[in-house]
Amino acid sequence: MILNTEKSFGLVSILFHWIMAALFLIQFWIGLTMESEPVLAAKQALIARHVSIGILILALWAIRIVWTLCNRRPALPGGMQQGERRLPRASHVLLLALFGIIPLTGWLLVSTMGGLLPFQIFGLFALPRFGLGASLHAAGIWSVFHAFLAYFMLILAAVHALAALRHQFTLKDGLMVRMLLPGRSLIDE
Ligand code: HEM
Repeated sequence: MILNTEKSFGLVSILFHWIMAALFLIQFWIGLTMESEPVLAAKQALIARHVSIGILILALWAIRIVWTLCNRRPALPGGMQQGERRLPRASHVLLLALFGIIPLTGWLLVSTMGGLLPFQIFGLFALPRFGLGASLHAAGIWSVFHAFLAYFMLILAAVHALAALRHQFTLKDGLMVRMLLPGRSLIDE
């Protein structure tokens, strides 16, 4: 129930999956609203929340990477050809990588903005900035990169969700339920 098996996901992997998916969507939404917020104090509060949740995602990502490496990976449906497995496997690896890369580009962005943005995490502790020196030009580049990767990840996550729904409701192989209930195998297994 706790660990993955070769056929099913365990509770920890399932919690990581859904908590981080929810945090990503919340984080994306805060990112968008803070960009368009006209009142400076409200904008600063949103940025502080965005930075804190982003660092929380980064910390969870690091633990999740260790967990993923220490656990089995349940097999994809048996009916899929070798070539068909490459695309979902590659997209899963990319999604997992983006959970770490996007927060790191945010950290680089805050670092190149010098002291312009506070770097307090949930008001509890401060994190150091990377010693890159303040440069609004560099901050502009990191900002575009950060936003581009966030939008790219949103599209990739949507395709990933649609593929899961197709498996569940068109191919009826129980793939999505496997990521909802610990210990649950695919329907034909
Ligand atoms: C998975 C984690 C993250 C996601 C999905 C995310 C997403 C976003 C999005 C969608 C925007 C608005 C982009 C736009 O429309 O221009 C944004 C902006 C921003 N993010 Fe993140 N972010 C994440 C993590 C972080 C972290 C960890 C930090 C800082 C340590 C950070 C700092 C910022 C800053 C400062 C901006 C404003 C950029 C600007 O005004 O040009 N983000 N983020």
